[in-house]
Amino acid sequence: MFAVKTRLVQVSPTNPDPTILSEAAEVLQRGGLVAFPTETVYGLGADAMNPAAVEKIFLSKGRPSDNPLIVHVANHETVRLFARSIPPIGLKLAENFWPGPMTLVLRSSVQVPMIVRANLPSVAIRIPNHPVALGILNAFGGGVVAPSANLSGRPSPTTAQHVLDDLDGRVELVLDAGQTRIGVESTVIDVTSQPPTILRHGGLTREAIESLIGVVGSPADVELLRRSPGTRYRHYAPHAKVVLFQRGNLDQLLLEIDGLKSGESFAAIISSSQIATTVGRAQFVLHVSEPEEFARDLFKVFRLIDARGIRYVFVEEFEEEGIGVAIMDRLRKASAV
Ligand code: TXA
Ligand code: MG
Repeated sequence: MFAVKTRLVQVSPTNPDPTILSEAAEVLQRGGLVAFPTETVYGLGADAMNPAAVEKIFLSKGRPSDNPLIVHVANHETVRLFARSIPPIGLKLAENFWPGPMTLVLRSSVQVPMIVRANLPSVAIRIPNHPVALGILNAFGGGVVAPSANLSGRPSPTTAQHVLDDLDGRVELVLDAGQTRIGVESTVIDVTSQPPTILRHGGLTREAIESLIGVVGSPADVELLRRSPGTRYRHYAPHAKVVLFQRGNLDQLLLEIDGLKSGESFAAIISSSQIATTVGRAQFVLHVSEPEEFARDLFKVFRLIDARGIRYVFVEEFEEEGIGVAIMDRLRKASAV
């Protein structure tokens, strides 16, 4: 593994210093890696057209090479350098939801290096909605591949400290603009199929997508694995064992707690108020009321639970509507053994 000296620089989330943005663009031009905030999570960026730079991403994250990356661009014109064609429904989504927490899977233009798209004929593209991300992309001019800036399998980073915890010594520059606003990754939509298919639930809700373009597909699991390799791997997981319990089912929670060896440490994440007072023995209890708030803090809480060495975390299931769909997707993946 290559080793670099990691530099951490604070930037304003709303009005980033142009000198810092051009420094970041220079690192990318030299084939280096830069971690930067987006509205969803922090990304680990490299020049999308430089296969050697892209390879560093796979090495530094320990990412399987058959998991393709998202190309981030600043504007619709640059999308056309990477996509061979955009169907009308893709254009409609792009016009309405970019910049934003949406990634479109499109037919790839031939120039996109195979390492970026894991040999697929398609490429994933997104225009993020964050002044720092957009500032870097504008200063750089081209496409920047950016997976979440965590070690493969770990919870995605929502602060610069999370990035350092995983990648110190493996990334040249980390731009710190505070905690990200959405907290779960972008929604990945394949528009090469008819109707379009959600490959990964995320910051843009199914309801918002369907109110614009009508019903979208959710492929059966096997098909999904074939088409979105990233969903095949265990993801988002803390070291603690994640155990879900039915919404409002206090008995189930108490049974789980009873089942622990005495003295075994646990945390509880509770979203319905009836349960609020019943987990006194827990090392850590989080009460969440708004799903948006939980989405923002979910990965941070996972990392905090690990930092405290807690062994189990019991999580009350969320209603699967709006951002709750992405939350439940992350929780199920984290709880899969
Ligand atoms: O919010 C986000 O999307 C963040 C920020 C940094 O932009 N990025 C992110 O990237 O989450 P990553 O690499 O952690 O997840 C990319 C997802 C994976 O599930 C991958 O399999 C899928 O997008 N993907 C990428 N290219 C694809 C393609 N050509 N076809 C199908 N799925 C693709
Ligand atoms: Mg990721």
